[in-house]
Amino acid sequence: MILNKNNLFHITTNDTSYLMRVDETKHLVLEYYGKKIKDVEDYSAYYNKWTFGTGCSVINNKELSKTANLDIMTLELSTTGKGDYNSPSLILKNNNGYVFDFLFEKFIINKIDGINTLKGLPTPKEADEELVIYMVDNASKIEVELHYLVFVASNVIARNIVINNKNEETVHILKAMSYELVLNNNNFEVMNLYGGWAGEAKKEWSEVKHGLLLNDSKNGVSSNRHNPFFMVKDKAATLNHGEVYAFNLIYSGNHSEEVECNFISLVRIMGGVSPFCFDYELKENESFETPFGVLTYSSDGLNKASQNMHHFINNHIVSSVFRNKERPILINNWEATYFKFTQNKLVALAKKAKECGIELFVLDDGWFKDRNDDSAGLGNYEVNEKKLPQGLKGIAKKINKIGLKFGLWFEPEMVSENSDLYRAHPDWIVKHPEIEPSEGRNQFSLDLTRTEVQDYIIENVSNTLKSANIEYVKWDYNRPISDFYLENGKTGEFFYRYMLGFYRIVSEITKAFPNVLFEGCASGGNRFDLGVLCYFPQIWGSDDTDAYERNFIQSGLYLGYPQSTIGAHVSAVPSQSVLRTTQIDTRFNVAAFGCLGYELNLNELTPVDIKAIKAQIKFYKAHRKLIQFGTLYQFSFMEKANHSEWMVLSSDKKEAVYGYFNGIQTINPETTTVRLKDLKDDSLYKFSARPQEHNLKEFGGMINYVLPVHINPSGFLMYELTKHKTMGSEKEEYIVSGDALNNGALKLKQEWSSTGVDENVRVLLDFGSRLYYINEVENSNK
Ligand code: DGJ
Repeated sequence: MILNKNNLFHITTNDTSYLMRVDETKHLVLEYYGKKIKDVEDYSAYYNKWTFGTGCSVINNKELSKTANLDIMTLELSTTGKGDYNSPSLILKNNNGYVFDFLFEKFIINKIDGINTLKGLPTPKEADEELVIYMVDNASKIEVELHYLVFVASNVIARNIVINNKNEETVHILKAMSYELVLNNNNFEVMNLYGGWAGEAKKEWSEVKHGLLLNDSKNGVSSNRHNPFFMVKDKAATLNHGEVYAFNLIYSGNHSEEVECNFISLVRIMGGVSPFCFDYELKENESFETPFGVLTYSSDGLNKASQNMHHFINNHIVSSVFRNKERPILINNWEATYFKFTQNKLVALAKKAKECGIELFVLDDGWFKDRNDDSAGLGNYEVNEKKLPQGLKGIAKKINKIGLKFGLWFEPEMVSENSDLYRAHPDWIVKHPEIEPSEGRNQFSLDLTRTEVQDYIIENVSNTLKSANIEYVKWDYNRPISDFYLENGKTGEFFYRYMLGFYRIVSEITKAFPNVLFEGCASGGNRFDLGVLCYFPQIWGSDDTDAYERNFIQSGLYLGYPQSTIGAHVSAVPSQSVLRTTQIDTRFNVAAFGCLGYELNLNELTPVDIKAIKAQIKFYKAHRKLIQFGTLYQFSFMEKANHSEWMVLSSDKKEAVYGYFNGIQTINPETTTVRLKDLKDDSLYKFSARPQEHNLKEFGGMINYVLPVHINPSGFLMYELTKHKTMGSEKEEYIVSGDALNNGALKLKQEWSSTGVDENVRVLLDFGSRLYYINEVENSNK
């Protein structure tokens, strides 16, 4: 809801208030952002107050105010040259230089129907209301529109700016952040997600000290280095308590987020397109629009801030076709075969997958001409008939006949030097006219700033999608951009225009094939962002499929992104990422908190593993809606507690799935207490462990304590035995009240400590885990 009183704007969502006003000097300032406060007659008590200003400062306009010093004002739009010495959100340059001062001109409030979508960038869908504030620099006549979209139920405000050049003189935009706000320092720390290939979304915690913290990407995409999602939180805030602000950006290219604490401890926060190598020329009557930034606030810790973001993404980012639509369980042949497959191998894999209950078969990289390793072929896109003699149509038909949907891998933004496309259009790659272009993974980036390249990709991908019954696409992207260049001195616009090209391509293709499920991928999570999610409802989280590593990666991603958007697979052991061996059920338990897939050769598994997989899939299907779209909670982080706990809760609070993940096993482990949140206090719930099986090898020589005859724990007999026999895990089931679950009254059975084992001992092992299903058995009617 947007309230306006004499140029004071009070934006409210279910739980938050964002209060701005136009001050005496016509600048727009933020007076409060936090927990929802009441509408009052007179808001002046909430204003920042200055009677004498501060020393060593510049007064903006002494006629209007003796204290208006931009350096210490809580500006919603800051720029250069008029006494603000913090990092500005807008840097412009015209023939007269860098001096600009944007003052309030007018505002409008749009109800749902009046809200414009951005021209070339993804826009969040179905906002409740929009506030547009127009600011003008009187000398240059440049106008800046500040757009605030309100999403009441998500507790989210999305903001962007549009710059309109109303002057005949060209202006250069050197920096234009989407959102900017200034908060009073509340002993803040920043949590951001850093990483690299296969090690994405690691949490970093940094105290906000006087000075500037920067989170950015410069490699052409949102990147695995620093995700655009981050949090600014009270240092004391925990998962379920305390103040947390969270931010994201609906954009997939270079981005930059700044948190600057100034000399009077005001904290300026901003985010948007990165100013790195950015210089956008705006001629008379032209406009430049930034992507939308996303802002939320929680007074109840990290979980609530994440849940706000999740609600927003599930309801306003993901396309309506896939909104709350259950995602299929897939088998992907990549880690099972890599490039070495034949049609028969794929069919055999698909048959086994069907037997296990899998629903979709994904044919990964290597299906087209000359693509037998990663050195050639990108850009050929005619099927490799040696591998697939009946073409895509043939393999899709065979897969469909087995009873699975068929999905296909693409990497349309790239080209190999050794390919038909490169031979035909060597000039279509991103390159400098006088410098040899550099390769990454033996490939070049196609120049998506060019319309003919965009048209080619749209046509080519569309033709392939029409050529067979393809119901899913994995859209990969495997190298960062280098050698960027645009003609006529426009290279400063390259990265932004590349993204406009990308969005045109994916928007046209997804519009033409609305029912195809697209999964974004960029060597795993090198482009995991809200821009991609506007077109592709899910993204492959990481090439690291080791269950322990994945625990960290998914936990980081959950802070900003819901589980319904994260592709997560069970793969073979030892893991091909870190050569670690984890139990088959742990691999499932981690992947189950996402869009579940399997990525291993099912035909090489033992009968007991196949049995385990069948049980996993049965469990996942029975609770899929809850798992994929329930409200997600984290109760501990692996990096802090040597274990992690995740829960998904249904919106009616009648059922939940709770996962407990062990780190390194210790001797004499602590008692495990279950402390959840938001179950109905007065209801009774059944809390039951999903039965798991132990591989007998886990017990080594101790197996001889229970066998009637002695066997060699590393011998052939043991090997044969473990293919067919397992030992059941502990049995654990209780009827407990919601308040007991919410307050930590429930204790789990004793954990293994080397002194004995029966059905009352939880044998977890290093990296072991359990899932528990919780369902209401007696209703409190609350
Ligand atoms: C990188 C992806 O993340 C992998 O899953 C796989 O699709 C390979 N590319 C194929 O080249």
